[in-house]
Amino acid sequence: MNVAQIEITLRRPSFDYASTPRNWMPANPTFGYQLNGGSLTLPYLEPYLIRVMRQALDFLGDRRPDLHEDIRLFNGQEANHFRTHSRYNALLRQRYDGIEELEHEIETDFARMLREESLEWNLGYSAGFETTGMVMSQLFFQDVAESLEGADPAVEGLWGWHLAEEYEHRCVAFDVFQAVCGNYRERLRLFFFQANHLRSFGAKASNLMRAQDEAAGRLLVTPEERAAHQRIEHKQMRCAKRRIALALLPWHNPRRHAPLSSADVFLTQLEWG
Ligand SMILES: [Fe+2]
Ligand SMILES: [Fe+2]
Repeated sequence: MNVAQIEITLRRPSFDYASTPRNWMPANPTFGYQLNGGSLTLPYLEPYLIRVMRQALDFLGDRRPDLHEDIRLFNGQEANHFRTHSRYNALLRQRYDGIEELEHEIETDFARMLREESLEWNLGYSAGFETTGMVMSQLFFQDVAESLEGADPAVEGLWGWHLAEEYEHRCVAFDVFQAVCGNYRERLRLFFFQANHLRSFGAKASNLMRAQDEAAGRLLVTPEERAAHQRIEHKQMRCAKRRIALALLPWHNPRRHAPLSSADVFLTQLEWG
């Protein structure tokens, strides 16, 4: 088995959205709006992940000391992510009507999950989301990297940094889930639960933003552009399905996925604020 040596690094970039357009990813607007929808979940989802990891740490006690440092670094990265995304989300809230209601809905869901579900369940959800994060990184940096042509540098920087770090910590929730629960059927079931949960929220949020931009005439595209968008969306869907199918195999281990060289290059080229 080819096992990657994984290093997790904490970074604190900052981004200036003063000239960020609404359609920030013009080569693949659907992905851009999906990422906007995803950004809105993060100040609720990522603190939830941090709490679940802390509970797992308490549960494990002196067992598996090898996971302690990984959990500390995972939590450090996630805390930087949601704080940094919060500043971008403030811009989305200012631009679009109805965002607060959606945020309230997702906040309530995560509070309920922490209150009512078991540690094993919450770890299954967290490991499922980590798989989604890994696939998003592969799409962003490899499969449909052409989406970034003409993208707004600030939001591209925000997501590039975040997804590069998601890829770095792709093993942590998986390792902790395996240590505490390790049940393959639960991993599978909770992957689909989190995928549907986040997809339904993300779709509501991205449709809301896109519909408001379309109604205001801010998203006019030529027939050629529309055809190009459809081609890239189909490619993205095909790649995502294949990546997810591979990640759901019983012998999947995120450690076997080699580092993403394009993500590493992206981080070295990012301007650190
Ligand atoms: Fe994150
Ligand atoms: Fe993460």
